[in-house]
Amino acid sequence: MHAGEAPHTPGTPVVSPLYQSTSYVLEPGKSDDLLYPRYGNTPNADVVQKRLAALEKAESCVLTSSGMGATACALLALLRPGDHLLASRWIYGGTHKLLTDEFATLGIDVTLVDPLESRGWRKRMRKETRAVFLESPVNPTCRVVDLRPVSYLTQEIGLALVVDSTFASPINFRPLEHGADVVIHSATKYLNGHHDVLGGAVLGTAPYIEEVRQKMIVWGQAPDPFACWLLERGLKTLDVRVQRQNENAMRIAQWSTQRKEVKAIHYPGLPSHPDHEVATLQMDGFGGMLGLELSGGGRAADRFIRKLRLIRHAPSLGGVDSLISEPRHSSHTHLTQEERTKVGIPDGFLRISVGIEDADDLIADMEQALH
Ligand SMILES: Cc1ncc(COP(=O)(O)O)c(C=O)c1O
Repeated sequence: MHAGEAPHTPGTPVVSPLYQSTSYVLEPGKSDDLLYPRYGNTPNADVVQKRLAALEKAESCVLTSSGMGATACALLALLRPGDHLLASRWIYGGTHKLLTDEFATLGIDVTLVDPLESRGWRKRMRKETRAVFLESPVNPTCRVVDLRPVSYLTQEIGLALVVDSTFASPINFRPLEHGADVVIHSATKYLNGHHDVLGGAVLGTAPYIEEVRQKMIVWGQAPDPFACWLLERGLKTLDVRVQRQNENAMRIAQWSTQRKEVKAIHYPGLPSHPDHEVATLQMDGFGGMLGLELSGGGRAADRFIRKLRLIRHAPSLGGVDSLISEPRHSSHTHLTQEERTKVGIPDGFLRISVGIEDADDLIADMEQALH
């Protein structure tokens, strides 16, 4: 709650002031203390960067204007034309597009790896490989990637291991404690937690984050001071929100195992989940995201969504309000139906971002919609 804030001396405000200023008075003859929001060094960004670094146990952090901005700047700081990136096949649709379409135009080669393939990472390694990118838990399948074998490899060869930890939040998972070098967040999700800010964050060593900051500056990816101010406020309740979301998601997951209309429930907290053991070892909580497949397939999914009253049909995730979406129409529209099925997202797959409402109310809503 308090990392990075001003000392508690009499007269200082309890809530950080919003510095909605693009210009700061500069001492004549000096340039090293030039403050400018696009440089990520003004007070509202500074406090959040310090707080997130404390939460992830990272040396340093830089905020960006979106999660996509964070992924792009984080990887552009590591890769040059001619370099090769190994990336998990299980990634957010927008990231997939960035890696497969955009990076090719920059001369950066990307190979997608199925995390389940035995020794898959090692087999696809080349002498030009510079980094490994993965997401865990995975959007929207809620698969959990075991960091141990991947980090042994990246440490042995000296590659950067970059982990998008958006689905977990630092309350449930801190990748740097498990051999990762870089952590990425879409701060739009759990970190802010109120569906009203777009932002991103990259965390790692101080020299590396300085390189990411240079990319952020020239590619124009800095967040606005008001976004940082809202993010600081959101972070104050991160722990209590995420604990409640973990509990609510577990309740819904357990309830759905009793329902005959539910064909499959994807939640790492259930012993039946293929990654339950890895999640138990690697994470402090199983998260607030669930995947749900109804016996009636795509048509049943559409009808179910229309009947919900409390849980709203909307994209994005990680906030206090429960939301439901169909990845084929939202986060994974960039993939073909065949590609989606290959990564575990058949038509009719529903993604639920569980909020902080009363769990009984959420279950009652789902029950009446199924009925
Ligand atoms: C796992 C993951 N990473 C990155 C992003 C991109 O974040 P943003 O929408 O803030 O750019 C998303 C967005 O849904 C996501 O789910």
